Amino acid sequence: MGWSVAGKRALVTGSSTGIGAAIARELAAAGCTVGICGRRAALLDDVLAECRKSAPDSRSWVVDLSELDGLEAFAARVTDELGGVDILVNNAGMPKRRHALALSFTEVERVMSLNYLSPVRLTLALLPGMVDRGAGRIVNVSSVAARFGPPREAAYSASKAALSAFSESLAVDLAGSGVTVHLVNPGIIDTELFSLPDNEPSLGNLPPERPEDLAAAVRSQIEDGGFELWFPGWMKDVAVTKASDPDGFLAGNIEYTAARVKELGLPDPLAARRG
Ligand SMILES: NC(=O)c1ccc[n+]([C@@H]2O[C@H](COP(=O)([O-])OP(=O)(O)OC[C@H]3O[C@@H](n4cnc5c(N)ncnc54)[C@H](OP(=O)(O)O)[C@@H]3O)[C@@H](O)[C@H]2O)c1
Repeated sequence: MGWSVAGKRALVTGSSTGIGAAIARELAAAGCTVGICGRRAALLDDVLAECRKSAPDSRSWVVDLSELDGLEAFAARVTDELGGVDILVNNAGMPKRRHALALSFTEVERVMSLNYLSPVRLTLALLPGMVDRGAGRIVNVSSVAARFGPPREAAYSASKAALSAFSESLAVDLAGSGVTVHLVNPGIIDTELFSLPDNEPSLGNLPPERPEDLAAAVRSQIEDGGFELWFPGWMKDVAVTKASDPDGFLAGNIEYTAARVKELGLPDPLAARRG
């Protein structure tokens, strides 16, 4: 272990449920003071109570991270009330499972705002303090969707691809600063992301992983310093396969999607358009 999270202060966004709540609990259990946030106060209260058992100075804030103009003030408030931010975990995000023909531009903008622009804005706000201290960790929760072109998720995949690309360049820019960047590519994790309204059914058919297991892997990633985490790990092999044969991968994706759409009895917007 290179860098311990014990005694550090972490802001974990989107920590009222799912992966963010699991990461907050994991860091707190390891002795890290956590700042948690989201829109639902009651859920945050429950997570905070658990975190405070091992990290008593942990705090929570109710915030809508899609309101981008408020994020510098939010970052300043968190810095003030936590006494500094050593670790920023950009985890908050929303799904958008919608066939491209049914997508509105407003939906694409909304997804991009929350999944890409809000982590970027928080990062830019907190980065100078980390660089001045010569230490910090920025953890961006992206998705395997950024690389695999999942069907009916063009808006979501693009927002995560933007976050992944930003992370990679950022890591190079910060080399030697003491601030490191960490990219997380989860596969399918058992959270409410798959039951949120205003989304088509998921076309995935893999057994979901536990958020707690991902959170433990993220803590190791932060402490060991690795740039990119695929979870589960075999997803990395899929990325390698795709890179070696992108056309074959796309053909397989199209075939899989057609079979899955049929199996689930979903409408086909292309066929409906053709009449
Ligand atoms: N589950 C998966 O299989 C999977 C796979 C790959 C990547 N991911 C990524 O992992 C991250 C966490 O997702 P999850 O699976 O844990 O889903 P989740 O349970 O729905 O968690 C999403 C979190 O983001 C918060 N959030 C959503 N909109 C927000 C807003 N406008 N302002 C502030 N907070 C907001 C939610 O809290 P409130 O509703 O209380 O605001 C919640 O805490 C996301 O970035 C997601 O894209 C998930």
